[in-house]
Amino acid sequence: MTRHFITTQDWSFGDLSALIDHAVRLKERPIQPLLAGRTVALVFFNPSLRTRASFEIGAWQMGAHAVVLEPGGAAWPIEFADGAIMDGVAEEHVREAARVLGRYCDLIAVRCFPKFRDWSVDREDTVIRAFAAHAGVPVVNMETITHPCQELAHLMALREHFGTDDLGGKKYVLTWTYHPKPLNTAVANSAAMIATRAGMDVTLLCPDERFLLDERYMDAAARNAADSGGSFTVSHDIESAYSGADVVYAKSWGAIPFYGRWEDEKPIRDANRHFIVDEQKMALTNNAVFSHCLPARRNIKATDAVMDSPGSLIIEEAANRLHVQKALMASLIGGQN
Ligand code: CP
Repeated sequence: MTRHFITTQDWSFGDLSALIDHAVRLKERPIQPLLAGRTVALVFFNPSLRTRASFEIGAWQMGAHAVVLEPGGAAWPIEFADGAIMDGVAEEHVREAARVLGRYCDLIAVRCFPKFRDWSVDREDTVIRAFAAHAGVPVVNMETITHPCQELAHLMALREHFGTDDLGGKKYVLTWTYHPKPLNTAVANSAAMIATRAGMDVTLLCPDERFLLDERYMDAAARNAADSGGSFTVSHDIESAYSGADVVYAKSWGAIPFYGRWEDEKPIRDANRHFIVDEQKMALTNNAVFSHCLPARRNIKATDAVMDSPGSLIIEEAANRLHVQKALMASLIGGQN
């Protein structure tokens, strides 16, 4: 059966750790022909800086060729609904697009954000699931409703910073932050899952219960914590959440009860600008490291002082995207050394 990387929950923690171990070796010795003669398709339905650059460069560093496709831009718009009468803008169906790419390429990576109109539709992750169903080759999630590659880079950065693979007992705060627009919950879902898998004591800090994550990810985080010996709690109190924290991870996301009614959510989000990560909040912590997946609006999500502080892992985490994705591609379609 073809193995995909759509959510880390489908992979054992041992397998994820092995990817990070390989990434550490690749970071030390980046040019290795582990994918010589291979081809990968990078399918972007949304913009990117880090993901596109790191996958494309990573493929090259391992001897593979990457082709970047932007459906609806320089590539044909694609239909995903089974049985669709295709009289709209789409010129081909995923049943053809995925199978054709699967004949050219050894791996297909897909970025497709939610449409932000109906969460009951978006939560099905239809686009990447369709690629996985039809491609016949491994499919990698470059961010849909989760961001598993970011999880690997984040965990790698934390292990590097703390100098240990055992993060059990660390107090980890996943804090909602203000952003002028409602953003994807993907990175927050992912952070909750990987931090609990790593056995940390995870606090989800958000303005109120309307900003809780989808129950699928809340439940996964709780289950992970029970399995790993960590914990998963929710807090709406900034001071107690930050107090004694070892890790502060920031992300903004839209409140799911208002999904598709974002004009109703806006006053609530606007009233919570004070969730910005600043020096005063970080002073409550146990000299915590700060990180964010990037891109991040400075002095909106986090102050300049926090972004540029010695404990800021933002650049190292982004850098690690290159190494973990190389390890992932090598695991799926190459060799390891
Ligand atoms: N973190 C991340 O995925 O960055 P990009 O959106 O720039 O790819």
